[in-house]
Amino acid sequence: MAKKKSVSTVDILSKTKKVHSSVQKDSLSEAINSPAPAEASLDHIVTPVPAAETLPQPRRSIAFIGSECYPFIKTGGLGDVMYALPRTLAKLNCDVKVILPRYKCIPQKWQEKMIYRGAFQMDLCSDGRSFYVGIMEYVWDGVVYDFIDNQEFFSNGNPYTNLIDDIPKFCYFSKAALAALNYMDWIPDIIHCHDWQAALVPVYLRTLFSNTKIGGAKTMLTIHNLRFQGVYNIPTIKYWTGLPDYLFGVDVFKTGADDANMFKAGLAFADMITTVSNTYAGEIQTSFYGEGLDSHLSYHSRKLRGIVNGIDIDQWNPSVDPKLAKGYDVSNVLKNKPQNKLALQEQLGLDKDEGKFVIGLVSRLTDQKGLDLVNAILPALIDGNTQVVVLGTGDPYYESSFRAFEYTYKGSVCSNIMYDEGRAHLIYAGSDALLIPSLFEPCGLTQLIAMRYGTVPIVRETGGLKDTVEPYNQYTGEGNGFTFDWYRTELLLDAINRAKTVYFTDRSNWDKLVERDMNKDVSWENSAKQYRELYLQLRP
Ligand code: ADP
Ligand code: GLC
Repeated sequence: MAKKKSVSTVDILSKTKKVHSSVQKDSLSEAINSPAPAEASLDHIVTPVPAAETLPQPRRSIAFIGSECYPFIKTGGLGDVMYALPRTLAKLNCDVKVILPRYKCIPQKWQEKMIYRGAFQMDLCSDGRSFYVGIMEYVWDGVVYDFIDNQEFFSNGNPYTNLIDDIPKFCYFSKAALAALNYMDWIPDIIHCHDWQAALVPVYLRTLFSNTKIGGAKTMLTIHNLRFQGVYNIPTIKYWTGLPDYLFGVDVFKTGADDANMFKAGLAFADMITTVSNTYAGEIQTSFYGEGLDSHLSYHSRKLRGIVNGIDIDQWNPSVDPKLAKGYDVSNVLKNKPQNKLALQEQLGLDKDEGKFVIGLVSRLTDQKGLDLVNAILPALIDGNTQVVVLGTGDPYYESSFRAFEYTYKGSVCSNIMYDEGRAHLIYAGSDALLIPSLFEPCGLTQLIAMRYGTVPIVRETGGLKDTVEPYNQYTGEGNGFTFDWYRTELLLDAINRAKTVYFTDRSNWDKLVERDMNKDVSWENSAKQYRELYLQLRP
């Protein structure tokens, strides 16, 4: 690593050092303009930690701060990343702590494993109102999980409810996470924050915490989804954060006429910004995908990088997956996978027929996921040879439209309006193809899981879908899935029909595609190394 240290890195370090001591308004613009480096049931899973001498050097410590983490609490891909990336980093000689809210809805099985680590009172609001901060700890497979305990904020049945509750909750959480690190005297090299719920961490660190023990840590803020930003009126956010007035200008918090935006402020103060694919890193600097923050992100683009997500290949492993009817790997996928299709059809009340083309859709049911396109073409898909299996919850409009499709096309369409990990596994294994026609997709994990299970993704070429699914080429026989570019119903239908044509008329090439997908590296290995590189650039 030492070889890589260039003159520009040294320059940058001397600049960012100044940022540490900047609490005054005068140094605000320096703080937000400082450039980044130029270059930018799981009990069956046991992964050995490599021997110390084979670990990459030097060792670095990282505190992950985010609002969800599988298996404690998960509503989507953020939960998967918060689980899998720290575990992979732990094997790359990183000392990792994950800081999460202790939601009451975390299953009892996990609550019971937590050990009391301490408690203190913390000032939060501009009137000095103070709150209890408890720390509950659980150490698992080389990663330490610290849960911030406060029943006033975390007692709901769901991690997210509405902005009126969520804004105070995540102001509290961001500040409490830093205060807890100081309390535990665990001072990491890097604080890696995720999405708007943890976006205030870099702001607090460079202001109210700059002269505390943790004040010297570097921050990385990862954008998993720019659609959600934590926006509310300025007086409310000023009150709950207790942050000084000078931060509420357009460079940091202010957005629109008189709102404050927590994500925007975090992006301004973070030492490094990452997002979960290279394509999305470019897209969010355009007005179509930028969710109103495109020019803010372009302004900070020198410290913005894209690193594509992976999946935990032990958690998602069709050869030992206890949720499947029949396990398989690439050597026997063609023989064993159809048994999962039959099991899926039987369990879900679909016509039991190995010859049908089964399309799965495992998704939050929101506009992001391209479901208006799916609704528009679904009747055209049901031709007697095709079945559709939906698993998801979300927008009531989509929940009822998919229910109605099941009613109309009984035996060919099954809509599972629920959140169910086990059923997701069976759908990944039992489907022939997985549909992800997203309007935008920062990374997307379901296409990676699908490929790991030999299920061919049909995706729109956006964000991480574009970076991970190479289009099938009928002439060279290369590629991993079927893709389309413009967000149009006829293009989605065409992509699905192309997939069906290969499946029904060119089975040997379809089978090769299935095997190629199973052989594709979708693990965290490469991407975790890229994160490690960035940590080392921030803290050589
Ligand atoms: P997003 O984070 O935008 O929802 P991702 O593709 O990154 O999308 O991740 C979605 C994750 O949530 C995957 O692990 C997927 O299997 C899971 N998932 C989504 N909906 C459900 C559901 N209804 N039941 C079980 N798992 C689900
Ligand atoms: C977000 C995105 C998704 C991404 C996930 C994990 O929820 O919508 O595309 O895969 O975060 O980074």
